[in-house]
Amino acid sequence: MITQETIQEIQSRIDIIDIVGTFVRLKRRGANYLGNCPFHHEKTPSFTVSPTKEIYKCFGCGKSGNAIGFVMDHEKYSYVEALKWLANRYNITIEETETSPEFKAIQQTSDSLFIINNFAKDYFINALNKTDEGNDIALSYLKERGFRQDIIDKFQIGYNPSARDEFSKAAIAGQFNKEYLIKTGLVVHRDEKLSDNYRGRIIFPIHNLSGKILGFGARVIKSNDKAPKYINTPENEIYNKSKILYGSYFARTAIDKANECLLVEGYTDVVSLHQAGIENVVASGGTSLTIDQLRLIKKYTNNLTIIYDGDSAGIKAALRGLDLALEEQLDVKLVLIPDKEDPDSYVNKIGAVGFIEFIKNNKKDFILFQLENSLQDAGDDAIKKSAIVNQIAETISRINKTEDFTKRQDYIKKVSQVLKIEENGFNALVNKIIRDKYTKETSKSSSVVPDPLIDEVNTNVEIQSLLHKDELHEQALVRSLIEFGLKEWNESQNVANFLFQQIDEAELDDLFDNKLLVEIVMLYRKWFENGESPTSKNFLYLENPMINKLVLQLMEINVEISANWKEYYEGHIPTREELYKEEVLSTLNYLKLRKVKRLISQNQQEMENAKTMEDQMIYLQTHQHLKNIEISLTKQIGAVIIK
Ligand code: UTP
Ligand code: MN
Repeated sequence: MITQETIQEIQSRIDIIDIVGTFVRLKRRGANYLGNCPFHHEKTPSFTVSPTKEIYKCFGCGKSGNAIGFVMDHEKYSYVEALKWLANRYNITIEETETSPEFKAIQQTSDSLFIINNFAKDYFINALNKTDEGNDIALSYLKERGFRQDIIDKFQIGYNPSARDEFSKAAIAGQFNKEYLIKTGLVVHRDEKLSDNYRGRIIFPIHNLSGKILGFGARVIKSNDKAPKYINTPENEIYNKSKILYGSYFARTAIDKANECLLVEGYTDVVSLHQAGIENVVASGGTSLTIDQLRLIKKYTNNLTIIYDGDSAGIKAALRGLDLALEEQLDVKLVLIPDKEDPDSYVNKIGAVGFIEFIKNNKKDFILFQLENSLQDAGDDAIKKSAIVNQIAETISRINKTEDFTKRQDYIKKVSQVLKIEENGFNALVNKIIRDKYTKETSKSSSVVPDPLIDEVNTNVEIQSLLHKDELHEQALVRSLIEFGLKEWNESQNVANFLFQQIDEAELDDLFDNKLLVEIVMLYRKWFENGESPTSKNFLYLENPMINKLVLQLMEINVEISANWKEYYEGHIPTREELYKEEVLSTLNYLKLRKVKRLISQNQQEMENAKTMEDQMIYLQTHQHLKNIEISLTKQIGAVIIK
């Protein structure tokens, strides 16, 4: 792990204008800088960088973040990779903390596996191209299938000789550790000896995003009913099938450029399409897509086009994973290759131009495809048909982010037409599924402290959106703390002192529904009490993307001065800076007010259930007391209205 000191050093040296300016042409515009957004296509610049806040935001596509986030997003780096890039740029030597023995062991194993795989790749390439057996049996086969030498070289395709242990011997001569050799799957232990696992097979190395070899796919040359067509690397420290897309190393820039990722089934499909000049293509290996693979794609584009052969079993498998794609907000299209061909054979048959044309003209929407497909299967069976309606409503309900609302409505319309059912009714069905899911989720996560008010609310989506308005008050208070915490409250206190005195730790959970906000307050408090001077930047550079995002969002809330203030100040409208004390007080009071209202309603319920006269009296007194607090809070709440 990179040490905290190094991270701090990097943070202190970051100049966001310099960093973003490396990739985007920025022009000064007032206090900010403006440029064309690198994350979406635009002609008029709406990409803004604020040197003082050290954040960027695109008003076109909504992307925002800090300098580290920018490097991560733009270069598709992980957090650590981005730090390393920045350290390199500012000539900072990276210090790493002592890692745990377990972690070291994994690291060591991974390194060893990479080294063996690299050795094996070179060995196989040599065996394919420089030996008689390789030339006669394997290279000739590849050439017969139409693969060009430059493409064979580019994909580092190789050959494992057919003798029992030719590779094994070379590996042992290379003094590689036996245990690691077995882990790579390249060799097997049989009769006290190591034998080659991929004897007589063509070898497709599988690269990670930086080009290192994670594992191999090994294909038989002559079809043979007994042996499987492909043998793949077993799961190990570096080969994790569910996270791998074959070809992603060669496809990444092309996917970025085309803003589309083509997905095929097999190794040879990827290689052939590349040869035809179609480079934005990766392969799944014929199994259903996993969420990790979808996220890998999502890093580069929102547009996924699946190209499978029409009668393949793979298509059913692929479709199974695709409901997940909708939740990841990927736009999924489907192209079926006709006549028992697959992308490899089809592009060889009709040529690159024809293939591209075919893809363009035969893209089907994935949801509608699924619908048509199952309708055909169902025929006139009424029970099956109603199951389909339910199923498709469930699928559509997964398009459940506010930004996708139009897309969802669009589907509801189209699907109702295909199914010949009433659009309103179908709409209601989809909404009900969303609601049910939501209720289930929230009751799971908020089961710690049952809150009668909240439970009641959960069943009602409309009231739920009102609740979110409530969260704005929570956010506003945390923002007051982050922004004004270090300012003076009175002669003896800062704003932060005052707030922490007003809300003690035990009360935080009560006041805030959003537990991430509680975490932020606690962090602030820890730093503050350690004598540090926390600002928003401390949060923006934490290695917790949820907190980064939330704090970024906080800094963007709009605050509107109410009409009362305008009258009061006659013309001069004070800035938030001038009114920070009022803001702190009113945000605090808003939250307190909410809590009191909850208590009142709780008390009222208890009052209704009270058995004796005395009990009722007590509840009544409590009610009066709470009401008085409510009134006084309402009065106190300043005229600053948080929208
Ligand atoms: P295919 O049988 O369609 O093979 O399997 P292919 O890629 O078209 O190969 P060629 O063109 O016949 O040479 C599709 C993919 O499914 C996985 C492989 O990733 C393969 O590329 N597969 C298939 C296996 O992992 N094991 C198998 O035994 C078969
Ligand atoms: Mn094929």
